Amino acid sequence: MSKHSATTGTRLTVQSVRAMAARGQRIVMTTAYDATFARMLEEGGADVLLVGDSLGMVVQGLDTTLPVTLEEMIYHARAVSRGSKRAHLVGDMPFMSYHVSEAQALTNAGRFLSEGNMHAVKLEGGVDLAPTIRRLVRAGIPVMGHVGLMPQSVHAMGGFKVQGRDEDDAERILRDAEAVAEAGAYALVLEGVPAPLAARIRKHVPIPTIGIGAGPDCDGQVLVCYDLLGLSQDRVPKFVKMYDSWFARGVAAMQGYAEEVRAGTFPTAAHSFGLNTVAAPAAIGGGSNERANPTLEAKGEPHH
Ligand code: KIV
Repeated sequence: MSKHSATTGTRLTVQSVRAMAARGQRIVMTTAYDATFARMLEEGGADVLLVGDSLGMVVQGLDTTLPVTLEEMIYHARAVSRGSKRAHLVGDMPFMSYHVSEAQALTNAGRFLSEGNMHAVKLEGGVDLAPTIRRLVRAGIPVMGHVGLMPQSVHAMGGFKVQGRDEDDAERILRDAEAVAEAGAYALVLEGVPAPLAARIRKHVPIPTIGIGAGPDCDGQVLVCYDLLGLSQDRVPKFVKMYDSWFARGVAAMQGYAEEVRAGTFPTAAHSFGLNTVAAPAAIGGGSNERANPTLEAKGEPHH
């Protein structure tokens, strides 16, 4: 975790993200979609939490991110912001929420900040999106760019494929990265590009680069939290490293619960409530473990 957030408890900002890159401190970014995960990932050291439209695939079970709506994104953004105290929060603008016109992009990006409590927005696109980025930045909305493999362009790209493998394509992505930086974006996600190209882009553009499937030579890295926790089961890309196996552990925990419920061994007295001895007549029984003022919120009590 950055010195900023870990030791001072202060909120990381656009400026802190830039400063981290300038002093060579790698930026740790992951996605989050709800308050509990936001709190956990932040405690684990996330500097930047992205409310990514990847939620369409990992939370909603869709094949692509395209059907995700702005309303859904803002709902998740609000949840994440409630669970977060220190991370820099970025809202991912969904498909077609910023392509129609600059005015549309401005209105929708503004909603991420005013309703979703995000600190910045991320949008996919290069040279073509530069005027839109410039417009948002002029309006005081920090923008994180995203070039290379752009999941919202999955059909145009013919699938989720590594981009920039040949020289012409690499040049195109380099120009996209430059255009995004020139338009005023404060950071840039590089997704699904060869590691040498990411290293080249990092040298060329004056803003922090955050890689996903882009090799080690970026100023930071981002992974989808479901992937890094080992919750994802299908279509896990080569660049993902799973740091745990939550899916398997969740199955085992559920099996333990199911077995105990079926055997009648859960709940025991430790997870049950007694009667209030003052209110309860002796005739209906009163155990020695009963308390005068039981409350569901008391420490150690179940609270559901
Ligand atoms: O939506 C998302 O999670 C993303 C990251 C993978 C960068 O855009």
